[in-house]
Amino acid sequence: MSQRSCLSVILAAGEGTRMKSALPKVLHPIAGLPMVAHVVKAAEAAGSGDLALVIGHGAEDMRKAAQKFAPKAETFVQEKRLGTAHAVLAARVAISKGYDDILVMFGDTPLIDPEALAVARKKLAEGAAVVVVGFRPPNPTGYGRLIEKGGRLVAIREEKDCSAEEKKIGFCNAGMMAVAGKHALELLDKVGNSNAKGEFYLTDIVEIAGGRGLDVVATEASFESALGINNRAELAEAEGIWQARRRREAMLSGVTLIAPESVYFSHDTEIGADTVVEPNVWFGPGVRIATGARIHAFSHIEGATIAANCDVGPFARLRPGADLKQKAKVGNFCEVKQATIEEGAKVNHLTYIGDARVGAGANIGAGTITCNYDGYSKFFTDIGEGAFVGSNSSLVAPVTIGKGGYIASGSVITESVPDDALAFGRARQKTIPGKGKELRERFASAAAAKKKAATDH
Ligand code: UD1
Ligand code: CA
Repeated sequence: MSQRSCLSVILAAGEGTRMKSALPKVLHPIAGLPMVAHVVKAAEAAGSGDLALVIGHGAEDMRKAAQKFAPKAETFVQEKRLGTAHAVLAARVAISKGYDDILVMFGDTPLIDPEALAVARKKLAEGAAVVVVGFRPPNPTGYGRLIEKGGRLVAIREEKDCSAEEKKIGFCNAGMMAVAGKHALELLDKVGNSNAKGEFYLTDIVEIAGGRGLDVVATEASFESALGINNRAELAEAEGIWQARRRREAMLSGVTLIAPESVYFSHDTEIGADTVVEPNVWFGPGVRIATGARIHAFSHIEGATIAANCDVGPFARLRPGADLKQKAKVGNFCEVKQATIEEGAKVNHLTYIGDARVGAGANIGAGTITCNYDGYSKFFTDIGEGAFVGSNSSLVAPVTIGKGGYIASGSVITESVPDDALAFGRARQKTIPGKGKELRERFASAAAAKKKAATDH
């Protein structure tokens, strides 16, 4: 089948008014990726090399977004929304290039199973002219019904055009179709709009193809893979299904999730076997975790690379560019951004490390802050191997702490510290015997005098 050329036409010209959003519906994300990008991925997974994206509402935003998730896709604007067949024909120029297979999908159906598309393509390879992917929703209201006669698919009837008898049919159009490229335009051009909605229905090509003696076939996909998103409640439902699938996949690949339902993955999260993820962890885009790491509860991680056997959290925040080498530790209430924490280094408590390198085996005390920003530019802090930074120190970048450097607690370090040096960046302590008691007595008598003056009045 792989030798057969394939074009996927993805329809995304709908307004999506029920999202009540300034963002086009199909750009709303699932697992951090626009829903239409999930459809693109499914098309690619089914071996479709070329893509045509039919857009309308929010065309400029769509074009810009598409450059990221589908740089090779050609976009076509459907000026007037006259129905799904009309929308497919907006991509006429692409279709007429002469593909073996044409797949049609909706941009608002993000959980499409690539396997369902592959099966449909297989049917085309076996000689079918039109393949309709059907499904059995718990409630068929609103879907096109697959009308079969003698075991053959003869038509698809939209809800509004169905007779009472036809409405009882539970087998529905999931919205994915495969059409033999050599017949696609001749079938689409025959579609009319004499139906209840006055639209040019893609689904009419079933009857048209049958009338010409072409082979029309129905396959069946899961309900989930045809879940269409119209509002934010359905968006959340799709997100939930996606997350459940991904969690299961992670666990089956050797990752322990103690409370799977509370862990959120991104579309691109990579996570190695024998890593343990405690409850309530969120992974934003761009996270790669090797094997045997432990991500403690309530950590928020994005754009970070975590090597084997690292320990992160609880309550850690790893931001883009955080790069933890083997056995590094980033503990509670620490934030790391654009910084490398070398092998075995420890950043354990209440610390901000940004634009920095923490050398192997270094120990960063509680409350350490790399002061990386002057309000205009960012500066780098380099902390050498085996250095010790005492608690509550501020390292004012650009600054270097040499290998084995030792920083006294509470220091404000503004000048670089050589290897193995000890640096104090704070006022020396002064201790005055008896002065504490004297002060206390003075303050007590002042307060008493004030109280007396108030009651005398
Ligand atoms: C469609 C199918 C129906 C199927 C259902 C599955 C048709 C006629 N009906 O109905 O059989 O059961 O999906 O969810 O195909 N679009 C455009 N331009 C248009 C019209 C639609 O781009 O002019 C896009 C929409 O953005 C949407 C998709 O095509 O992504 C489907 O259109 P919609 O109007 O939602 O079709 P349904 O009535 O849901
Ligand atoms: Ca729909």
